[in-house]
Amino acid sequence: MKFPALTVQEAIEKRRSTKDFSDAPIEEGMLDEILRLTVAAPSSWNLQPWRVVVIESTEDREKLHQACFKQRQVLEAPATLVFAVDHQAWKDDMEAVIEEARSRDAWPESYCDIARKVIPGGQNALDKAGLIREYAIKDAMIAATHAVLAATSMGLKTTFMNGWMEPAVKEVIGAADRNEIAIAVLVCLGNAAEVLPNPGRLPSDHTVFRHRLG
Ligand SMILES: Cc1cc2nc3c(=O)[nH]c(=O)nc-3n(C[C@H](O)[C@H](O)[C@H](O)COP(=O)(O)O)c2cc1C
Repeated sequence: MKFPALTVQEAIEKRRSTKDFSDAPIEEGMLDEILRLTVAAPSSWNLQPWRVVVIESTEDREKLHQACFKQRQVLEAPATLVFAVDHQAWKDDMEAVIEEARSRDAWPESYCDIARKVIPGGQNALDKAGLIREYAIKDAMIAATHAVLAATSMGLKTTFMNGWMEPAVKEVIGAADRNEIAIAVLVCLGNAAEVLPNPGRLPSDHTVFRHRLG
């Protein structure tokens, strides 16, 4: 591997949300590797509803900064990944997903036939129940977590962000009028010299249970 790589355990423990990024650019090729690992994430039926938009230009960062209630990390970080989803894309993408899995002998023909029936049934039921957006966002959050851990493993700092106005973020990525597009989360990426303190977590017996919720 060309870039430094922490173990998964080390990356999880080292990751801290960062607000103060330096001017240092992201090393050549590193962002491509992070994006490759990002879209290696799993998704429901492998439908990959995420659409990841990389925001890097000064002009776009300024617009995104406004859309994020002027949170400074969006202006300072050399790149912000906008994790959008297209919750209707499965209609066009399903056959390509099934065919790719079949051609790799990952899904047997019988499973492909089942997928061709079950995916539309399931997705249409989610749509009817008003849940299709939420389900696509679950997939995108997993991809965003891949991005953050991959970036941390390579020595970058990150911040997940929920503090933004969806219509304004959609405008920045050129999706203002597209109802099938929703925003899951934003991730700022870059370098920072500071070592941030860990804010800690609630005691695990408050949040983790065996057998039954306490
Ligand atoms: C989904 C999500 C959304 C977040 N949104 C913001 C945000 O908009 N602005 C911000 O400064 N931090 C944001 N954070 C960072 C959290 O405040 C931070 O993760 C938390 O305080 C724990 O700190 P740590 O990430 O260093 O462990 C977000 C984190 C997550 C997971």
